[in-house]
Amino acid sequence: KRLILVGPPGSGKGTQSPIIKDEYCLCHLATGDMLRSAVAAKTPLGVKAKEAMEKGELVSDDLVVGIIDEALKKPSCQKGFILDGFPRTVVQAQKLDEMLQNRGVKVDKVLNFAIDDSILEERITGRWIHPSSGRSYHTKFAPPKVPGVDDVTGEPLIQRKDDTAAVLKSRLEAFHKQTEPVIDYYSKKGVVANLPAEKPPKEVTVEVQKVLSS
Ligand code: AP5
Ligand code: ZN
Repeated sequence: KRLILVGPPGSGKGTQSPIIKDEYCLCHLATGDMLRSAVAAKTPLGVKAKEAMEKGELVSDDLVVGIIDEALKKPSCQKGFILDGFPRTVVQAQKLDEMLQNRGVKVDKVLNFAIDDSILEERITGRWIHPSSGRSYHTKFAPPKVPGVDDVTGEPLIQRKDDTAAVLKSRLEAFHKQTEPVIDYYSKKGVVANLPAEKPPKEVTVEVQKVLSS
């Protein structure tokens, strides 16, 4: 399957992705994760992206379109993929359409993680991540077995620099202004499925499975 996950910061895209990936053997391409590793490695891409990310603004369309175009060439992405956090502007959606047209494929479903803004601050400020795998934990909603440690690798967990209440405000603003129009873009194509993203993680997974098996 070829899937897009769209939703505000903290809506659960990164939490559901690994589960969908394991079930359908897809590749998981999260532009935020890719950009964060580029920033950590101080690559030219990372240097360009760092400032916007720390402010909670979107990085330029050209940068992220370039990353996705490259990543979609991987052999593991030929049977299907999950795009998590991309496209986030209508321009990115149009570019993606071109890329997929050139490859003779199309998007099967856009999963819209619908949730009220008021729930997101608690989710974002309690999040801990395992940077190399992208696994997300939450001190209250999804605690790791040992505090501060990844369940799978035993490596330390970190908090994201943009996971503060102040930066969340900018990220939400970017979502409403620039990303909500992307949902309309795909609604017109009839491929959007709305998920009740305020439910507990396991219930959201059940909803995702319902959509993907229909
Ligand atoms: P990105 O990394 O994509 O961040 P985001 O969209 O803000 O989304 P998050 O990762 O914060 O949320 P999520 O939905 O994955 O939440 P999670 O599942 O972890 O982007 C970061 C930055 O990179 C952007 O600001 C921008 O600068 C740049 N960027 C990235 N892509 C770009 C693009 N295409 N164009 C331009 N710029 C781009 O869950 C959050 C927490 O809640 C976790 O602790 C989790 O355990 C918990 N949780 C999850 N689900 C539930 C649940 N159902 N109930 C209770 N708790 C839950
Ligand atoms: Zn995420």
